[in-house]
Amino acid sequence: MSYTFTLDGKVIPFADGQTIIQAASAAGVFIPHLCYHPEFKPHGSCKLCTVRVNGRHTASCTMRASAGMVVESETEEINAERRALTQMLFVEGNHFCPSCEQSGNCQLQATAYHLGMMSPHYDHFFPNRPVDASHPEVLLEFNRCILCSLCVRASRDVDGKNVFALSGRGIKTHLIVNAKSGAAGRYGLRAG
Ligand code: FES
Repeated sequence: MSYTFTLDGKVIPFADGQTIIQAASAAGVFIPHLCYHPEFKPHGSCKLCTVRVNGRHTASCTMRASAGMVVESETEEINAERRALTQMLFVEGNHFCPSCEQSGNCQLQATAYHLGMMSPHYDHFFPNRPVDASHPEVLLEFNRCILCSLCVRASRDVDGKNVFALSGRGIKTHLIVNAKSGAAGRYGLRAG
């Protein structure tokens, strides 16, 4: 059975069990997001996909669509909040687009462009994050990682290999590799 809700005034059809972002994307409407990927279970951590549903903020990648809901996404207020989140991601890590080989093919950069981010706005942390090249087959570049966990879910849910995981808490959260080799497990302690 098919139902509808409205997104910024546009009528969006959805099927039972679809989230707001899934239904929006199927209808050709883009909602900014970083940790969502259509093939993986939603994580709901970056909050870039936040929309307002019947007046309340919620993550559109985890919120199931329901009939008649009124969803706002491309408002000045919500985009200002998304821009602030994106600016925080830029200053919290070491993202230097002009010297990055992924420039032009990077969802963080594309999101910043989409939101009209013209400056980092906040003071840069310039965290000391050494690259972990201690594994024979994987190089961990912590300076670019935004902890979206897409690699964790791809490895766990699609490949069934469980190669990656997030470890630590708060500002010490970091990616680790499930291998005997390497310094990733010790990295969180060193990073202080
Ligand atoms: S895309 Fe929904 S919380 Fe990250």
